[in-house]
Amino acid sequence: MIDKITQYGDFYQLNAHFKVNKLLKELEPFKDKWAKYNPRKPQILRDGLCVINDKGKCGPGPALDSLLQWNTENGTFLKEKDFNIPTELYKSSSELQRVMEPMLDWSVRSHFLRLPPGGYFSPHRDHVYYDQQSFRIIWPLQNCNPPSFRFMLEDTTLNFDHGHCYVINTTKAHTLFNCSPSNDSIMLVVNALVCEDSIRFVQDNLYIR
Ligand SMILES: [Fe+2]
Repeated sequence: MIDKITQYGDFYQLNAHFKVNKLLKELEPFKDKWAKYNPRKPQILRDGLCVINDKGKCGPGPALDSLLQWNTENGTFLKEKDFNIPTELYKSSSELQRVMEPMLDWSVRSHFLRLPPGGYFSPHRDHVYYDQQSFRIIWPLQNCNPPSFRFMLEDTTLNFDHGHCYVINTTKAHTLFNCSPSNDSIMLVVNALVCEDSIRFVQDNLYIR
């Protein structure tokens, strides 16, 4: 079913726009709740702040870790679809609720991602084995454009309007790095289940149609 999402392109915009200043302001009371993203690689500067996860509470845990390694070490069988409980951050942010409420039934593991200067993701794919059952919806919010930041999809640097909503085919190789000397990069990443309702949402909200 993933072809229903990828048929529109590898990088395309949806009508689901955040007021960036308002949203970032609503994050401020949670400034102590950011946690290391993938703590198994502590040398890489990356933090996450959970919007939807397995326990409905901000902080460290499997939603910000390698799921495979977490399950192996803890004897758990957590799957992407088990990360479906909005956190106190979601419940406190009218801006998150305004934009994400129509998506909540099929949105799973979702978080703000912060890359401080020097933070990066080396080339990788978000899906490799099995049928792909989720896809990425991303809102770049702060310092996500060249030349101070690069989101590369294969060999192409993506250019964003901050606050706007994008579907990105992260099954293709992608690379992120913040080469700003001083500014953090911040984006919101939603994992959306591939289902009739999410496909219809994408169709109804295509920016170009
Ligand atoms: Fe990725």
